[in-house]
Amino acid sequence: MSLVEEIQQLKKEKNAVVLAHYYVNDEVQAIADYIGDSYYLAKVAVGLKEQTIVFAGVKFMGESAKILNPEKTVLMPDEKADCPMAHMAEIERIEEVRKEYDDVAVVCYINSTTELKMHSDVCVTSANAMKIVKALPNKNIFFIPDENLGRYIAEKVPEKNFIFNDGYCHVHKAVTADMVKRAKESHPEAEVLIHPECTLDVLDLADYIGSTSGIIDYATKSDKKEFIISTELGVLYQLKQNNPDKKFYSAGSTQICPNMKKVTLEKVRDCLRDGTGVVEVDDETRIRSLQPLQRMLDLAK
Ligand code: 13P
Ligand code: SF4
Repeated sequence: MSLVEEIQQLKKEKNAVVLAHYYVNDEVQAIADYIGDSYYLAKVAVGLKEQTIVFAGVKFMGESAKILNPEKTVLMPDEKADCPMAHMAEIERIEEVRKEYDDVAVVCYINSTTELKMHSDVCVTSANAMKIVKALPNKNIFFIPDENLGRYIAEKVPEKNFIFNDGYCHVHKAVTADMVKRAKESHPEAEVLIHPECTLDVLDLADYIGSTSGIIDYATKSDKKEFIISTELGVLYQLKQNNPDKKFYSAGSTQICPNMKKVTLEKVRDCLRDGTGVVEVDDETRIRSLQPLQRMLDLAK
């Protein structure tokens, strides 16, 4: 039996479903039941009929699925697949900012630890951050942990006062404006599609800025035939599946997330077969971090 057949059989036997982010390896996306951006995957995890969710992604994604579905078993194929940015904010700083501004909303990018979520007022993803920040009654917004997404949203919502934090995604930060300009010189007809975790000088060069799903939808619906992509290159799998007649170029070769790439087919099979990689969130953490996640789902509707 092939590895893929083994996984399909185990999914049936264990009443399991596989959710995958667009950044994981192509062959893992190919066996997933649901593939999407962080917002879609958080939404889809709620209300699945299967008892076990295998989360092909990084730790904060598996934890969010568990917090939203405490009665389910959530398995991570590689428990060491963790997003470094998720740790790039300090509880002490949140407390300081809360003291300084009485009406502040702590807006927490979903790429964060459960501890950071527990101390936040609302979660956001790149797909819904603008809508949620606009909907908040608060004038002051402390945006954690990602400075780049925060600065992008701040430009779009000038009526709010933003306080930034210095977290970043190393994969997106490694893309420079020069790289995008060079790609544009080589492919002058191509449209430039950029993820908002990139720095503002890079975003200035974009024809479209959006989440991974946003980028895929934009390229799929566009009449253009060539695109320069500035996000993790796992998105190329779905872009090429949806658009076999279009050409995609990367803005540089560095856009690979080593943590997302830790998830392999073998590890998906092993966690299903052996029941390993169980995501555990204690009750107090779960109840407190559910509030900002649930508020995100309500405000983003
Ligand atoms: P989205 O899929 O929500 O755009 O997130 C990008 C990301 O960096 C996930 O780790
Ligand atoms: Fe974290 Fe960046 Fe990897 Fe996404 S791509 S998991 S934000 S390091």
